[in-house]
This record gives sequence, C-alpha cells and structure tokens, in this order.
Amino acid sequence: MLYLSQRDIEKVDLPMEEIIEALDESFKEKGLGNVEMPPKPGIHTQPDAFIHAMPAYVPSLGSAGIKWVSGYPENYKRNLPYITGLLILNDPETGVPLSVMDCIWITAMRTGAATAIAAKYMANMESTTVGILGCGVQGRTNLRALHIMMPKLKEVKAYDISGDAAKKYAEEMQKQTELNIRIVGSPEEAVRNSDIIVTAGPILKNSHPAIEGDWLKPGVFASPVDFDSYFKKSAFESCDKFVTDDREQCLYYKSLGYFQHIPEIYADLGEIAAGIKPGRENASEKIICANLGLAMDDMATAIKIYKKAVENNIGIWLEL
Ligand SMILES: NC(=O)c1ccc[n+]([C@@H]2O[C@H](COP(=O)([O-])OP(=O)(O)OC[C@H]3O[C@@H](n4cnc5c(N)ncnc54)[C@H](O)[C@@H]3O)[C@@H](O)[C@H]2O)c1
Repeated sequence: MLYLSQRDIEKVDLPMEEIIEALDESFKEKGLGNVEMPPKPGIHTQPDAFIHAMPAYVPSLGSAGIKWVSGYPENYKRNLPYITGLLILNDPETGVPLSVMDCIWITAMRTGAATAIAAKYMANMESTTVGILGCGVQGRTNLRALHIMMPKLKEVKAYDISGDAAKKYAEEMQKQTELNIRIVGSPEEAVRNSDIIVTAGPILKNSHPAIEGDWLKPGVFASPVDFDSYFKKSAFESCDKFVTDDREQCLYYKSLGYFQHIPEIYADLGEIAAGIKPGRENASEKIICANLGLAMDDMATAIKIYKKAVENNIGIWLEL
C-alpha cells in the first residue's frame, strides 16, 4: 500500500477547484441516496476534544475508506495542530487497503470546499463581502474556496481573538487571493453588512455565542464551521432556512448538547445539490448551512490524491 505523509500530500497539491468538483458530485450522489456513510462514532479523552471514526463509500467516485481524526482545542499550547489524523483508503472491489495517508491537508481543504458548495446553492452570487471569524487553518481554506466560487468577492473582514493570528492571516491571504483583507476588532464588525460569514473558532460545549439575529443582513449566507459555537438563539431564529450537510449527524450532535437553538432543518445539502429541494429562492433570504464535516468529503478528495500520487511517483510503498 502507498503511505502518504503530510509532505507527500502537499507535494501532490490537488487543486481546490478539483476538490470542489468532487464534493459537488458527492453531495449530488448523497442527495440521491447513493452514498454509504454511517454517523461517526467517537471517543473523548479531554474536555471538548474528540477522536472520530469516519467511514464512507462513494460508488460514483470508486472511493471507500475511513478517516480517524482528532480535534484538540488546547493543542495550540503545545504548538500542535487543532486537527490531526490518518485516513485509510480501501479498494472497493476487494476491500484491500490501498493507501494510508495523513489527513490534515485533506480536512483543511475539503471543509473549505464544502462551504463553497453550500455557497454555490445558497449564497447570493452578487456577494462582495465576507466576514471570517477565526483566522486559523479553516479561516484560510474556506476563504480560498469561496474566492473560487464567488466571482464578485472583493472584501474580507477578518476577526480573531489573537491579534497576531489575524495579522499573519491578513498578510498571507492578501498575497494568495489579492482580495482586500481588513482586520476588524470585534465579531460584530466582521458580521454586520457581510454577505457571507464563516465562523471557524474552537468548538466548545459551553461556548460563548456572540452573533445576534439583527447583525445578519438580509440575503446573508453563513457557514458555521465551528458548529453553533458562535451563533446565538436569535441568529438561528432570524434565518429563513437552516441547512446541514447531514440531517442524521446534526440531530445526533443535538442529542449530545450542541445545536440546542437551531430551527427545523430545511434540507440536507445533498438534497439541494441534487435538485430535490431549492436552495436560495430570493435575494433577501437569510440562510445558515452548518456543514459538520462528512467522511464522504474526505473520501472524495483522498481517491484523487491517491491517483495523482501514483501517477507522479509520490509516497512510499509499504508491505501490508
Ligand atoms: N465542520 C467541519 O467539517 C470541520 C472540519 C475541520 C475543523 N472544524 C472546526 O473548525 C474550527 C477551526 O479549526 P482550525 O483547524 O482552523 O483551527 P486553528 O487552531 O487553526 O484556528 C482556530 C483560530 O480561531 C481563533 N479563535 C479562538 N477563539 C476564537 C474566538 N472566540 N473568535 C475568533 N477566533 C477565535 C484562534 O486564535 C485560531 O486562530 C475548529 O472548531 C474545528 O473543530 C470543522
């Protein structure tokens, strides 16, 4: 089997455009009921931390496997990433493991791509301004993906509790995207008058939500990558549609104590991608789409990385 380290995967450098395309196809397939993906079980060794098992099979992409991923909010104190883990890709015909690969890059990129897919169906295409709350790994990849999906994007309002993190973000993302990146001093400034909002701070059970319903402008599209950590009850109540990438998973998290204030779930993102339910229906709807992160997103990306790595002779072949 092929072992792909973090550095190998960076070397493969699968373009964000291809990841967005693979996820769009996967969401359509999910909407049509063609994806096998049981809700993720997990273990919890520290408060607010998780290690999740995420298996999925996407037949149309010939991709099957599992991601074993950790999320540790206190890791920054040890100079370790919030998210770490491994992914095993299996041959769908024989079940034989084809590859073991690091999952940091994949998780970062596919989560950004999932926000872009949600924006494709639910954001105003005229959107010019995005508010990013949490200027870490996800703040970066979500902006990269939105920059590809939203042709008129011009301005980014970046907020982070760490001034240094915001400054580094602004410098890096300005260079990468040539968008106008403005650091703002409060969550409210990042949210008010923004057409699109991405929140990507830590996921905490006892979180301190800040975003009020009347901060959200008509026509807004919000992608809470950090679950409901940032959104107050009034914000959820003010939205016209609440969508998630997986209804079952969202209700499971609700049973664990997250998402206590969400309204009725309007649709799964897959139902919208497959055309079973409409996404945005007019320019003034306020829509929140909470992508919890699906194993399907990882498998859609991993198979492409594997094929490109084999083609380009990247990685180390190991005996099983
Ligand atoms: N939904 C998904 O599919 C998915 C996938 C991966 C990660 N996540 C979640 O995304 C979040 C960010 O992950 P990451 O890898 O980017 O982490 P990261 O550590 O790279 O970035 C987090 C950033 O948030 C900042 N921050 C902390 N508290 C804040 C607050 N109250 N307001 C604004 N900024 C704040 C930190 O200073 C840091 O810069 C985590 O909650 C993680 O669990 C979700």
